[in-house]
Amino acid sequence: MRMENKIGIVTAAGSGMGRAGAIRFAAEGASVAVVDLDKEATDAVVRQITASGGKAIGLSGDLTNDNFARDIVHQTVKQFGGLDFVWNHVGSPGPASIEGLDWKAFDFTIDLNVRSVLVTTEAALPELRARGGGSILFTASTSGLQGSPYSPVYNIAKFGIVGLVKGLAKRYGHENIRINAVCPGPTDTPMLRVFVARPDSQLPPGETPETLVTKRGGANPMRRTGQPEEIANAALFLLSDEASYVNGVALPVDGGATA
Ligand SMILES: NC(=O)c1ccc[n+]([C@@H]2O[C@H](COP(=O)([O-])OP(=O)(O)OC[C@H]3O[C@@H](n4cnc5c(N)ncnc54)[C@H](O)[C@@H]3O)[C@@H](O)[C@H]2O)c1
Repeated sequence: MRMENKIGIVTAAGSGMGRAGAIRFAAEGASVAVVDLDKEATDAVVRQITASGGKAIGLSGDLTNDNFARDIVHQTVKQFGGLDFVWNHVGSPGPASIEGLDWKAFDFTIDLNVRSVLVTTEAALPELRARGGGSILFTASTSGLQGSPYSPVYNIAKFGIVGLVKGLAKRYGHENIRINAVCPGPTDTPMLRVFVARPDSQLPPGETPETLVTKRGGANPMRRTGQPEEIANAALFLLSDEASYVNGVALPVDGGATA
């Protein structure tokens, strides 16, 4: 098994890619803390993992609350006895235009995409150090690698995450703590529907969020939208010891869209 005896945290694990990752990592032998705002979804993922013989705990709460973002690390260590990896997956699209910008929405987008993952990472570093190293993965986006006309705040946040990954990778590599990012293209999850349906995201006439979900994916060389499991597969590699010399990368998993 590719994650035997590893202990880790996956945020936004109640749905989509985070859910796919938590289930996959547990199937590969990891003990997983499933973290999500949605308690029912969190519990359902934990039930699914334990029913298949895996080890998981559910931690439900709002990661924009600093205490919770920190506490998930302490709860995981208390329950499983240490920490080897974190997938900081939580995030949200934010406003689609800077004209008439809702500054509360701006603050929330930065708080969730940037601040919350920093708080969790700060709490996680001493725990990884105590185990002689570990791996932290952030979810950026192709919008952390190239401009997106309808996601200015998301661009700020996700380019920021890619920059953070490169800085932290250089700082902590000598402690055997690897820091990487995964950069998904449009992936078939509830968030993609939220993304394309935002009131100011200029949904073209005749399109619905559902038709656009298919078309957005279709705009890449592989002509399809990504599936959550395909991003979870990349996360599995980056978090596992198989990537023992991979540090500071922002890996596009986008069917070649950013090629
Ligand atoms: N879906 C895409 O096309 C796409 C593409 C690139 C990057 N991303 C990134 O992937 C991540 C989202 O993943 P997904 O598409 O698998 O989403 P999803 O919609 O399937 O799941 C998001 C989960 O996050 C949880 N959540 C929301 N706010 C939270 C909070 N404050 N605290 C704790 N949990 C919270 C929700 O309850 C939900 O279960 C984000 O970082 C997003 O920027 C998504």
